[in-house]
Amino acid sequence: MNLGSRMSLLLVALLSVPTVQAGRYVPWQAEGLSIPRPLGGLQGDPARGRAVVIDSHQGNCLACHRLPIADQPFQGNLGPPLAGIGARLSPGELRLRVADERRLNPETVMPPFHVDPRSLNQVAFAVEGQTFLSAQQVEDVVAYLSTLTEPGEAGTPPVAASPGNGLHSGYDYLKPETRAMQDDEFANPGMPTVDRGRRLFNAEGENGKSCASCHGEDGEGLDPARIASYPVYDPDSGRPRTLQEQINICWEDQLDNIPYVYDCTELVALEAFVRHRARGTPVQVDIDGPLRPFYEAGRKLYHTRFGQANLACTHCHDLHAGQWLRGQQLTQGQSNGFPEYRLGSGRITSLQRRFSECFRSFRAEPFEPGSQAYIDLEVYVNARGNGLKIETPAVRY
Ligand code: HEC
Ligand code: HEC
Ligand code: HEC
Repeated sequence: MNLGSRMSLLLVALLSVPTVQAGRYVPWQAEGLSIPRPLGGLQGDPARGRAVVIDSHQGNCLACHRLPIADQPFQGNLGPPLAGIGARLSPGELRLRVADERRLNPETVMPPFHVDPRSLNQVAFAVEGQTFLSAQQVEDVVAYLSTLTEPGEAGTPPVAASPGNGLHSGYDYLKPETRAMQDDEFANPGMPTVDRGRRLFNAEGENGKSCASCHGEDGEGLDPARIASYPVYDPDSGRPRTLQEQINICWEDQLDNIPYVYDCTELVALEAFVRHRARGTPVQVDIDGPLRPFYEAGRKLYHTRFGQANLACTHCHDLHAGQWLRGQQLTQGQSNGFPEYRLGSGRITSLQRRFSECFRSFRAEPFEPGSQAYIDLEVYVNARGNGLKIETPAVRY
């Protein structure tokens, strides 16, 4: 921030103008584990703070915390319940926790709601340069939390599912009805996409051949164990090749067709069909050989904080798997069911599109489908699930 804007912020503070421009960073000073002075010298309003806490486009605190707000269902449990917090923590201590909980726990999943935006990484364009909550909203939230002096539920700390607990497919977290829907080929809403892929597979390309010409009617010649080993290392390019890329290479080179764009409807349908051929086969990506550096690059991305909420994949899918984010239970974020059918959107989703949805959920700008970053991430995520059986097309929320 330049001197001019610092000066104008100072003026705002001095003149006690009631509102600071939404999302503008107001620098603060911590003393110990507290920010004693109100941000920008602003006065908080508990009623407004309560609204910010509830609103899923603002604080969305209920995503992770239970609060004594009876008319709000689906309160999450990634964080401790906040009833009675106003008796336990001073306004200054609350302010630091809301502004930047990372000061207390560097591995926290709680977003830093008011920090210098320049310290954040790959923030979604729509909110670039802004803080998650404005200085006024932070003060309103602190004022509201300070009113919570009645002890409610016991403040039990969040239970982190231990990563050593073994591998779990998203299937293990589903309701019995949804499992039954996935298991029944006639009820599974992803099957029409598999059928669409089958028709593309058996259809003639520009040169009169079809995929079936080389891989057998309905892909009978395809080896399920090979399919389950993707992404594989491609010695020609010296980089990983995803299953979608392999299909696109065959589509172009073997059928003389115009190549597809990564993640387009047809390619995802072909991928769904091919992966469905390997249903029940354990995922087995070989990361002991030349794929290793790409796995390591993906692993690094998985542990990198992104976006305005400043979260990494590991925070939700390793540290908090099994806990509730508002009405949704977090799973390990495994990839064995992709492409999968999402009941929420009513659509088939590819793995990389799911990555993008997660990026957007924490206000990060996603990478491009087919980008090196997403391919590395796919190598890591698939290998992380080595041993899980392929469920394509899985059914998820
Ligand atoms: C994505 C999950 C998440 C969201 C969203 C979230 N928090 Fe938290 N919060 C946590 C977790 C987890 C902790 C526990 C401490 C830790 O490990 O960081 C915590 C801790 C706290 C604490 C300290 C509690 C104590 O007992 O010391 C306060 C206060 C708090 N959060 C308030 C809020 C408010 C207010 C909001 C909304 C503006 C919010 N949180 C949004 C996850 C979240
Ligand atoms: C002219 C023969 C030919 C045609 C037509 C063809 N492929 Fe292939 N396909 C191959 C060969 C050869 C490989 C092995 C490539 C390698 O290992 O580098 C292969 C590999 C694959 C693989 C990886 C699995 C494995 O066993 O290595 C998949 C999946 C695949 N093809 C799908 C398709 C699809 C889908 C189509 C239609 C769009 C298609 N192929 C058309 C020859 C063909
Ligand atoms: C704020 C928490 C959060 C973060 C951080 C997050 N996700 Fe997710 N992710 C979810 C939720 C919620 C779902 C849907 C429920 C579930 O399967 O966990 C989900 C689902 C998934 C799934 C699908 C799992 C299945 O069985 O269908 C994958 C794969 C995934 N995430 C990958 C990632 C990757 C890769 C990252 C990092 C770029 C990431 N997620 C970061 C919340 C998160």
